[in-house]
Amino acid sequence: MKIAVVGTGYVGLVSGTCFAETGNHVTCIDIDEKKVKKLASGTITIYEPGLEKIFIRNLNEKRLDFTTNLAEGIKDAQIIFLALPTPPGEDGSADLKYVLGVASELGKLLTDYKVIVDKSTVPVGTAEKVRNAIAEHYKGEFDVVSNPEFLREGVAVDDFMKPDRVVIGTTSERARKIMGELYAPYVRQGNPVIYMDEKSAELTKYAANSFLATKISFMNEIAQLCERLGADVDMVRRGIGSDERIGKRFLFPGIGYGGSCFPKDVQALIKSAEQVQYDFKILKAVETVNENQKLHLLPKIKHYFNNQLKGKHFAIWGLAFKPNTDDIREAPALYIIKALLAEGATVTAFDPEAMHNVKQQIGNVIEYANDQYSTLNNADALIIATEWNEFRTPDFDMMVQKMKHKVIFDGRNLFDVKAMQDKGFYYESIGRPK
Ligand code: UGA
Repeated sequence: MKIAVVGTGYVGLVSGTCFAETGNHVTCIDIDEKKVKKLASGTITIYEPGLEKIFIRNLNEKRLDFTTNLAEGIKDAQIIFLALPTPPGEDGSADLKYVLGVASELGKLLTDYKVIVDKSTVPVGTAEKVRNAIAEHYKGEFDVVSNPEFLREGVAVDDFMKPDRVVIGTTSERARKIMGELYAPYVRQGNPVIYMDEKSAELTKYAANSFLATKISFMNEIAQLCERLGADVDMVRRGIGSDERIGKRFLFPGIGYGGSCFPKDVQALIKSAEQVQYDFKILKAVETVNENQKLHLLPKIKHYFNNQLKGKHFAIWGLAFKPNTDDIREAPALYIIKALLAEGATVTAFDPEAMHNVKQQIGNVIEYANDQYSTLNNADALIIATEWNEFRTPDFDMMVQKMKHKVIFDGRNLFDVKAMQDKGFYYESIGRPK
């Protein structure tokens, strides 16, 4: 099939590349000339394990190309995906200016039947707005489909190539058939393609992310209880997770969820509910719990240092909001750094992929180390903010040699509490005994 993808952000680039990977011809369109030039010449613009290899292959085999010209890019496409940003507006609701702007442009360009697909996370009712924006200029036949994306950063290629499910929101038989054919190679293992109306598909995406965020905030509250009651959240997690109704995944407490999706989508669903006079109480609590959890380590750190952080030096391992990404949007590490600096402390940090983004955002208010051990020189304590695999079995002897004090505050529960005590560390983690 011939496909156009408008927007070469995370979702657009992964989707475009993965659609090319099964033999489709994909043209990706973006208004950012510099980015398009880079991509067209074979330089990938995001860090995502496994993506670069298939990106280069499909580019070389001429199944993938890039342009800034919308008219040119969509000319032969049967399906046009909109993978555009929907940033939170001032009141937290998703801002649709990019999606509707392109829809309106498309209306002026269409000359024959095409399927226009909302891939971005958009509020319920957006498909209808996209349809209206196109219909204002184009009187011929076309369909608008909601096809939300569920891929996770860090495992995006796998998630896309073998999705747990594909959700297709449309009541048009014609569009349904085309979308079904497009996705057939991705669900060969038998994972379901679930057809529904557009509104349900749009809501499914918000409900999925909000439910996962709820699971995390719930576990973070259980961890708070564990700390106060002397229970171990690892045990509780395993105890409840083996009940299939609850499930093992997404029960890890920590220093809060971050990234570009959960915080934004939880906020947007609360806002959508408000707009139809519904007070989404659980989600408001999920959000508040998460805000507090990002700084959960701070009182522990302050308590340890008798409220005197001025002049103390901290090492931080991990800056990205989660491992295997260079994404620092809503990353808990940045909140912790800000709080430490405000208390007069100094910080040296290391992250395997995200340091360039942090440098760009906060500059040299902290120091950046070349590897995890160099952060530790003269450190009064180490703070672990992201669970990169390479932090899981460090050389503790080397750490001891470098650190001023053997003190670790672990926001991701990487180490065994007893083993750390045996090694002589003062070790505090989340929801586990000290
Ligand atoms: C999330 C969803 O998982 C995807 O299905 C969805 O497509 C995507 O948002 C999106 O809307 O685009 P992502 O933001 O890439 O994906 O990251 P996740 O792996 O879901 O992690 C989100 C946050 O939750 C991270 O900060 C992570 O540290 C935190 N988390 C996750 C926990 O604190 N505990 C857990 O048990 C799991």
